[in-house]
Amino acid sequence: MPRPTLRRLASMNARFPISGDAVPYRLRLPGPTAVPERVLRALSRPVIAHRGPEFLARFRDIQDRLKPILGRAGAAPFLFASTGIGTMESAVVNVAGPGLRVLIANNGQWGPVFKRLALAIGAEVDEVVSPLGQPIDLEGIERALKAKEYAAVLAVHSESSTGALTDLKALGAIVAQTPALLAVDSVSGLGGAEMRQDEWGSTWWCRPRRRR
Ligand SMILES: Cc1ncc(COP(=O)(O)O)c(C=O)c1O
Repeated sequence: MPRPTLRRLASMNARFPISGDAVPYRLRLPGPTAVPERVLRALSRPVIAHRGPEFLARFRDIQDRLKPILGRAGAAPFLFASTGIGTMESAVVNVAGPGLRVLIANNGQWGPVFKRLALAIGAEVDEVVSPLGQPIDLEGIERALKAKEYAAVLAVHSESSTGALTDLKALGAIVAQTPALLAVDSVSGLGGAEMRQDEWGSTWWCRPRRRR
C-alpha cells in the first residue's frame, strides 16, 4: 500500500476531524446505545501509565465492583481489552482445541460465530439448532450431552439478533452433570439480565468492555 502523502493525510484529517467536542452519536451494535455524558467525559481524561500504581488501583477496584454484577464472590474476573468476538475467541481456545469435541447451542447469529472459531482451531463441532427467536433448545442440549462426551458447551446468553434469552441456570445445571466446560457469550446480556456465575457454574463469560 502506498504511504500516504502529507496532502492525503491533511485531506483525511479534514474528512474525519478529531475535536474535543462530544459529537452526538448513537452506537448500534446492538443498539441504539446512548453513551452517557459522564462516560464520554471519563474517556477524555488524560491517559495513565498502564504499569503504574494508579492503574493497578483502578483495575482492582473495577474487578471488585464487577463481582456483584457477575454474581461471583471468589476469583477476580479477567478483563479483556478487546471486542466481543475477541472474548469469544479467547473462550474457545481455552475450553476447546484441535480434535476436542464441542457442542454449540445455535439460536441465531452468534452461535455460528462460536462454530467458526471452534472449527478454525480444529475442534470437532456438533450443533443444536433452534428456530430464530427461540431460546436455545435445552432438551436438545441434554440429549446431545447424553449421547457423546464433550470438552465444552458454547452458548449465547442473549441472542441480540432476536432478543431471545437463554435460561442459564437451567443450562448450567444440565452441563454440570457432565465433564464439559460451559462458555457463555453474554455480550448483550450481562448487566441487563440476571447473572449468577458462581451458582450457575460456567467457566467463561464473554462481554466486551465498551458495552453497557
Ligand atoms: C451476542 C453477541 N455476541 C457477540 C457480539 C460481537 O461483539 P463485537 O462486535 O464487540 O465483536 C455481539 C455484537 O453485537 C453480540 O450481540
